Amino acid sequence: MGIRLDDGVALITGAASGIGAAAAVALAAAGARVVLADLQDCAETERAVKAAGGEAITVRADISRAADVQAVVDRAVEQFGRLDYAFNNAGVEGMAERDIHEADEAAWDQALAVNLKGVWLSMKYEIPAMLRTGGGTIVNGASVAALVAFDKNGSYVAGKHGVLGLTKTAALEYAERGVRVNAVCPGVVRTPFLERFTGADPEVEARYTAIVPMGRMAAPDEIARAVLWLLSAESSYVTGHGLVVDGGLVAR
Ligand SMILES: NC(=O)c1ccc[n+]([C@@H]2O[C@H](COP(=O)([O-])OP(=O)(O)OC[C@H]3O[C@@H](n4cnc5c(N)ncnc54)[C@H](O)[C@@H]3O)[C@@H](O)[C@H]2O)c1
Repeated sequence: MGIRLDDGVALITGAASGIGAAAAVALAAAGARVVLADLQDCAETERAVKAAGGEAITVRADISRAADVQAVVDRAVEQFGRLDYAFNNAGVEGMAERDIHEADEAAWDQALAVNLKGVWLSMKYEIPAMLRTGGGTIVNGASVAALVAFDKNGSYVAGKHGVLGLTKTAALEYAERGVRVNAVCPGVVRTPFLERFTGADPEVEARYTAIVPMGRMAAPDEIARAVLWLLSAESSYVTGHGLVVDGGLVAR
């Protein structure tokens, strides 16, 4: 038997697509009841969760807005009575292809509002719900861009470095109160997010995979399995950690 989250309730933000959708299915297959939060409709993810034998509800939300995030957590607790696990994964790509002096202020604000403030807001409302039932585990969606910089994407790099800092802060604050907080740092993952950069053009894709020692992109499920481990009791002594899942990219 693999890793289990039986009887637990898991909230996944950005669950309509890519890594979040794969994580929802993986957590449900491990026995968690899942709450899918996204700006977009999550019908496809809900279907995949149900096909894996799981139970899911969807809450439409913009995770950069406090009232929306609070409503998601309230709905999770109302439906399932508790919150044990959270994967704060929703993210946007930011001010791609611009040097800092050319970048747009509104694009900067939008990227930081989702990628950094959204993670803070998620934890702000999830943690009290977890504390009410004795604790829980959180994985924040970071990136290799939390560890190294990529040019022409300053808002994204700054936001993801911030996510890792916030993850470590939360780990310290709740270490004695039963809440572990870690981050996952994916490299290049084949999702709609990445395809907005590559246009699914094989030549452009080859430039992305050229920087990966394994020579290929990750499948979303390869990230989801790392998230499952971090959320589960298998990682019971791990907190404040950014787990790199990147085919060797930052080892160079
Ligand atoms: N794909 C990659 O190569 C890669 C690499 C490293 C890190 N990441 C990170 O992984 C996470 C997921 O990325 P993905 O590749 O699956 O992207 P994706 O675009 O396929 O999915 C992201 C999901 O987040 C949702 N979302 C965006 N803004 C939101 C908001 N304000 N409120 C609620 N939901 C919102 C979108 O609707 C979408 O369903 C992101 O945080 C991204 O930065 C991705």
